[in-house]
This record gives sequence, C-alpha cells and structure tokens, in this order.
Amino acid sequence: MEYLKISGETKLQGEVEISGAKNAALPLIAATILAKNEISICNMPNVVDINTFLKLIDMLGGSFKKEEKCIKIDTSKINKTTATYDIVKTMRASILVLGPLLARFGHCEVSLPGGCAIGQRPVDLHLKALEQMGAKITINHGYIEATAPNGLKGAKIVFDKVTVGGTENTVMAAALADGVTTIINAAKEPEVQQLCQVIKDAGVLIEGIGTSTLIVHGTNKKLLHIKDFDVIPDRIEAGTYMCAAAITNSKLKIKNVIPIHLEAVISKLEEMNFEILQDETSVTIMPTDEIKPVNIITTEYPGFPTDMQAQFMALATQAKGVSTIDERLFENRFMHVSELLRLGADIHLNGNIATINGTVNELFGTDVMATDLRASSALVLAALVAKGETSIHRIYHLDRGYEDLEGKLSKIGATVVRDKE
Ligand code: EPZ
Repeated sequence: MEYLKISGETKLQGEVEISGAKNAALPLIAATILAKNEISICNMPNVVDINTFLKLIDMLGGSFKKEEKCIKIDTSKINKTTATYDIVKTMRASILVLGPLLARFGHCEVSLPGGCAIGQRPVDLHLKALEQMGAKITINHGYIEATAPNGLKGAKIVFDKVTVGGTENTVMAAALADGVTTIINAAKEPEVQQLCQVIKDAGVLIEGIGTSTLIVHGTNKKLLHIKDFDVIPDRIEAGTYMCAAAITNSKLKIKNVIPIHLEAVISKLEEMNFEILQDETSVTIMPTDEIKPVNIITTEYPGFPTDMQAQFMALATQAKGVSTIDERLFENRFMHVSELLRLGADIHLNGNIATINGTVNELFGTDVMATDLRASSALVLAALVAKGETSIHRIYHLDRGYEDLEGKLSKIGATVVRDKE
C-alpha cells in the first residue's frame, strides 16, 4: 500500500491550479445516461472516483474515450441496468445512476450503499422521491430494485432534509418523466446547479436553479441532446489549498476558481485574520501576524461546507485561542480527531462539537492513518506544519478526490514523497 511522507515546518509559495470538481463531475457523468448523443466533458478531474464511475458506465454497456482533460462519453448503447455491489461498495456515488436508469429504461437494480466512515448515509429520501413519481421500489438481497413500467410521472416532492445526491437523482429522473416535477427544499450546491444547467441547456425547462424550489418540465422519455461542457472548478480542493497556505502562514495564489463558491470559506479565513485578495478566477491568501480562533457550524450551501470541516480543524490547531466546530450534517465525521491527537493537537469531542485548543499549538510528525477523503487532507495540512516528518497511511482515500496532490504541493514548495509500505 502507498503512503505519503511529508516534511513539516514548510512555507508554501507561488500558484496552484485547481482541477474540475469531482462532486460536480460524478452526477454529470450519470446524466449522460439521459442522452442519445456522445458528449465531450472537459476540465474533468483525474481522480480515482471519476475512473470508477466511468467503469460503471462501461459495465452498463456505455463507452468513453479519454483525451487529456476531456472525456467523451457515449451511453447510447447501454444495455444493462444493474449497478453491482462490487462497484457500489467502492463508491457510494454510484447511487446516482438510479434516477437516470429508471427514467430511461423503466427498471434498474442498484446495490444498496452501506454506511461509510463519515456516517450511516441512508438513501431513503432518493427512494421516497422516486416512489412519489410512480416508481415501485423493493429491497431484495441487498439490491434496490426499481420499476416504473408506465414511466415516471411528474410529482411534488418535499425533501425532509436537504440532500445533494437526492436532489440530483430526482432532477435526472424528472428530466425524462411525464409532466412537471416540483422539488421543494432542494439542495442549492454549485454542483447541483451545474447539473440542472447542463440538463436545461439540453432543452429541459428547469426553473429555480440555485434556489430551494426546482421545477422540472419532463420530456416524457424523449432522450436529450446534451451539449459539450466544462466541469466547474472544485471548491473543496480550492478551500483545501487555501487552508494549506493558512496553516503554513504563506502567500499563495489559487487559480481556476469561482470565488463566489468559496464565500463561506473565505469569510471564515477572514475571521481567522487572513487577508484574501480576489479577482474573477483566482484568490490569493496572504500571511497574517496572528491566527485567530474561529467558531464553525457546518451546513448546506451557501453555508460552511462539511467537506471543509476537517481542514479547518487542522488549521484551528495553529490559532491563538479556542475554536469550535459543530458538525451538523454527518454524525461520524470526526475520525480525523484521533489522528490529529497523535500529532499532538489538543482537541476535545462532545457529541457533534469539537473544541480545538490552539494555545499549545506545536504539532510533531509521526505515523497517521487516513480514514476518509477530507479527513486525509486535514492530516496533510497538519503534516505541513508539524515538526519533523509525518507518514500518512491509507492514502487511497486522498486519491479518490485530489488530483496529483503531491505534484501540486511539491510545485508550491512542500516536500512530499509517495512511497510503498
Ligand atoms: C454529497 O454527498 C457529497 N458527495 C459529499 O461529499 C458531501 O459531504 C455531501 O453531499 C454534503 O455536502 C457527492 O457529491 C458525491 P447528502 P451526499 O445527501 O449527496 C442525509 C466528499 O468528501 N440523507 O446531501 O451523499 C445524510 O445522511 C463527500 O467529497 C438522508 O438522511 O450527501 C446526511 O446527513 C463526502 N437520507 C444529509 O442528509 C437520504 O436519502 C446530507 O447528505 C440522503 C441523505
């Protein structure tokens, strides 16, 4: 197994280029199932989760061609409708084929995703929405079996909770449904917005993009002609590099971003006493005299993202004072705490609230273990300031969502080496 060796007490400098957003690209690849044409998607991140999703498209009978940062996907010949356990167990986002497969073929079978390192993560809201659109759903031998012999019908869906994947699955199903679907309490994340925009550009009328009420006028099973497009920049990768600059108290320019998507992160960094310069497609973070503590509550977009919580916890270990992080989305998203403690951090957990005492702010390099994607990136950040060398094990988590992490970090001055155990 591979691991990363990172030398601490680093200063970063220069510029880093942000890749396309994994969490935008995954539903967008699923949406190609709604199309009758080959689609070229550019600014595609080169990360393991994308390759896994492409493998799923291939297993269903679709095809793809990679050309540098673009991928051409053709789902016109899809002739299978089962997402098997083997693939779903490696990537929960496989559930995103449920809505489009059901809408296009009238039936499909998707292995029920189990819990994961950050929480139980049920998919009940996805299933309830599809049932309200006329699907019959049963769970048999660990598989979601969905049928809609007469096609899906437009319906009014009120989500009990804001769900990114649930909104995405429902929008994709609604695009080919018969009639109008109104989604109330829809997710507003930029990744959901791009999915809606791409489907809208394919001729499906979608009202309310970026608001909590989406109205989708379905085509009654008429497949779409999706135009070629670029994936939006990854706001979580960008936020992670902003935290890398902050924790090492360095000046760093982060390029190829949409600054408005980073507002919650920028605002918390400003509260921590960092100055952030912005132009249309980049942000530059400046060093500070003193890192101030911060209080964070994770919530849905446009609030502070749960996917940035672990990175800010690493940063809070360097603040002069006591910070708190209240995780409201996932019940178990604190696996990084015990690993940060191994590096010498002073963190107390009480239910879903972590208190980080930054007054004793020296971290010391040691061996730590990555537990999920964002937890792993928090360990990378902590390793950049720790005294001595840190070895981060199980980095396959990082490879799922950060393109060329060690290449990008090395280019801005970090000493990072990938090695085999
Ligand atoms: C997406 O997951 C992201 N994944 C996650 O990114 C991100 O953390 C999350 O949204 C929240 O922003 C992708 O986009 C591929 P949810 P998703 O449905 O869609 C509960 C990363 O590191 N819920 O919005 O699975 C759920 O348990 C990852 O890149 C139900 O109860 O998240 C959670 O508490 C990890 N029933 C809350 O809603 C359901 O049917 C929000 O989850 C669905 C969700």
